[in-house]
Amino acid sequence: MANEWWKTAVIYHIYPRSFQDSNGDGIGDLQGIISKLDYVKKLGVDAIWLSPVYKSPNVDYGYDVSDHRAISEDYGTMTDMEELIFEANQRGLKVILDIVYNHTSDQHRWFLDAKKSKTSRFRDFYHWRPGTPDGPPSDWMSTYNTSAWEFDEKTGEYYLHMNSRRQVDLNWENPNVIHEVKEMMIFWIRKGVSGFRIDQLGHINKKKSLPSYEQYADKEADPHFEIIKDEGAHPYVHHLNEAVFSKYSMMTVGESGSATPEEALLYTDPARREVNMVFSFDHLQIEEGDSESDVKVNVVQLKKVMEKWQKTLEEKGWNTLFWCNHDEPRIVTRFGDEGEHCAASAKMLAATLHMMKGTPYIYQGEEIGMTNADFEGIEEFRDSKSITEFHQRHYEQNEEKESVLADLNKRSRDQARTPMQWDDGKNAGFTEGEPWIKVNNNYLSVNVQQNLDDPESVFWFYHKLIHIRKTEPVVTEGTFDLMAPDHPSVFAYTRTGGGEVLLVISHFGKKPVSFAVDREQISGLSGHLLLSNYTVEDDASALEKPFELRPYETRIYLFKETEKER
Ligand code: GLC
Ligand code: CA
Repeated sequence: MANEWWKTAVIYHIYPRSFQDSNGDGIGDLQGIISKLDYVKKLGVDAIWLSPVYKSPNVDYGYDVSDHRAISEDYGTMTDMEELIFEANQRGLKVILDIVYNHTSDQHRWFLDAKKSKTSRFRDFYHWRPGTPDGPPSDWMSTYNTSAWEFDEKTGEYYLHMNSRRQVDLNWENPNVIHEVKEMMIFWIRKGVSGFRIDQLGHINKKKSLPSYEQYADKEADPHFEIIKDEGAHPYVHHLNEAVFSKYSMMTVGESGSATPEEALLYTDPARREVNMVFSFDHLQIEEGDSESDVKVNVVQLKKVMEKWQKTLEEKGWNTLFWCNHDEPRIVTRFGDEGEHCAASAKMLAATLHMMKGTPYIYQGEEIGMTNADFEGIEEFRDSKSITEFHQRHYEQNEEKESVLADLNKRSRDQARTPMQWDDGKNAGFTEGEPWIKVNNNYLSVNVQQNLDDPESVFWFYHKLIHIRKTEPVVTEGTFDLMAPDHPSVFAYTRTGGGEVLLVISHFGKKPVSFAVDREQISGLSGHLLLSNYTVEDDASALEKPFELRPYETRIYLFKETEKER
């Protein structure tokens, strides 16, 4: 039987640039990560996933790789990497690397050669096309809101880039590209890694006929995703599975921003042999809550979306569970409360997610309740995408600076990339030098030290959630059923299996609210409290009649057939 360790695992996502600096240059590095492995281990997770640490000109901080088999000098050396893998494994932590296979940096030797002439042996590693009378070969747009085609003077043709113009899309119809990617993966497998997070998993197959966006204009679909649709990627992913993933028992998780639950099932149904799970962003694209209300997100919609994912992948596929990563705003800022109820809301959000079916991912700092940082001016931003957006909206379209900045502060990628807050010392203990990106001002009250010292902290709450996952099989295997789907602020659900029912009740608002449990889902069983973020009686008697939930309150109960009422 396949080793499915990842089904009971929790994975910790490290953004190396902002985790821990070891040499005072203001940039997090591999030795910094090594020095914090004991901390990561303490949380109880099974593996770390590192955002890219390969050689890169850092236009997109490592997601623009110029040498897949070398470590960026910002982060250290290959020896440091080998030491990191060894030290992690020593502690029982697996290492998962980020594979960027949709594109390379424009500084990659393949592209530098490809640019030299139309006869370069690397020319076909990329997508080159002549222009049209209107200019670029098609109306395709990049994620930077510019044409996806860049003109190259020397050879008089355009190359394709679905991200920044310095991230050039690879041509997967060229078998040599596939060969190189496989060899690169095997290179890292030999170094001892246990899995891959695959960047832009489903974007590798571009529609050759270059259909115009207009073709999709009156459909609901996002044309950007239509032209790179996942359907064409499946054969490639399957091939990689046969040739690499299953051969070497690699855990695989692919980023697929556009995947529907049905699409995700195609990727993750074990019989199809593609990847183990995918990251989709459906649950992070929910409408905001009513502006009058104390609830920041449309909870009814959120429940509907998460239920759909839980249900669609319940039998055959497998889900990822995540609130945060290096591209998304911090969840406490988004769905919780940065003020008085910061810790309570961080715990509530964690409980809601971690008791679902799938593999949870914790993004560095989430486990201590880190929030979005507030930046005052564009000079504080480091993310090229945000800076480009500022230029486009402010300088080209004359939008007020303040309004663009307000938007960026809310959802730019930098707000979640600020340094890890270790303690209340200089630069939050991240660096002795000048940090590459500003430290969030709230580090005096939100930091690792303070969390470790307080048994009631967010950190120790995450620790308990992980412990529950490890000790109660119903968390891994149970079926998911929503309770009170129409309740506007309470997200409640059960997980059922093996004669047990796990019940999670979470309140997404500041104002206390009354809630009544649907007794049918737990009938004939007796239960007790497993975890809560407020003081609550240990038995489940409180649930017999309607009761009040306090600001961002969450409770997890376990019901059993055999258990006598305590
Ligand atoms: C993924 C990464 C993101 C990066 C993009 C292009 O979405 O998570 O950070 O910019 O791919 O590689
Ligand atoms: Ca450093």
